[in-house]
Amino acid sequence: MSKTMTIAIDGPAASGKSTLAKNLAEDLGYLYFDTGVMYRAITLVALERGIDVEDEEACTALAESVRIDIEPPSEERRLYDVLIDGDDKTWEIRESDVDANVSVVAACPGVRHALTRQQRRIGLSGDVVMVGRDIGTVVMPDADIKLYLDASVEERARRRFIDMLAQGEEVELEDVLASMRMRDQLDSGRDVAPLKPADDAIVLDSDKKSEEEVLEEVKRLVEENQVEPS
Ligand code: DC
Repeated sequence: MSKTMTIAIDGPAASGKSTLAKNLAEDLGYLYFDTGVMYRAITLVALERGIDVEDEEACTALAESVRIDIEPPSEERRLYDVLIDGDDKTWEIRESDVDANVSVVAACPGVRHALTRQQRRIGLSGDVVMVGRDIGTVVMPDADIKLYLDASVEERARRRFIDMLAQGEEVELEDVLASMRMRDQLDSGRDVAPLKPADDAIVLDSDKKSEEEVLEEVKRLVEENQVEPS
């Protein structure tokens, strides 16, 4: 029997890490856990309740009290369902006002503390593919495999733009690119758990590879790590 494994996948927005993680988790029969959903959920609730996203105390209180559940998808077009205090908010957490504010909420130390605790609990149960910005560096520093999936900001903005059009949002590519640059800066420049590859992470560039090529490469890495317990 193979040992249980934790696979950490970090990287900037729209680098393809969610698709990779979802396909990998399906292939291995592992849990797929996209931790960005939690930061998005807290941001959505703050916006809905008229809470200032810069108000660290209020955002921390939300992160400590709001219940976020991630469940198997109820529709084919989804990777999962996101329930916030029992209500389905899977689409709402992807809207552009959440995109525009989530990096501020994710930079709040109190919010990170509360959400990291929950993420670690899920990660420690094993056989999980976890996706985020700080999984390999902070949440699961002992993960068996750490990957950092990168791509150029232009390519990532193009991907996000196509997704947004498909959702019926009226956006311009230039605006998506500007907001992607801003988010990169906020995610990489924050004091707590900034976006960066762990020292022992394997860095993959998805600009130059298809989704399938990246998946095959990662599956090979996983096989190499799946040693029989002695
Ligand atoms: O991956 P995403 O775009 O859904 O992430 C949303 C935001 O949450 C983004 O600003 C980065 C932040 N995030 C984070 O700081 N740490 C994580 N582990 C996951 C996401």
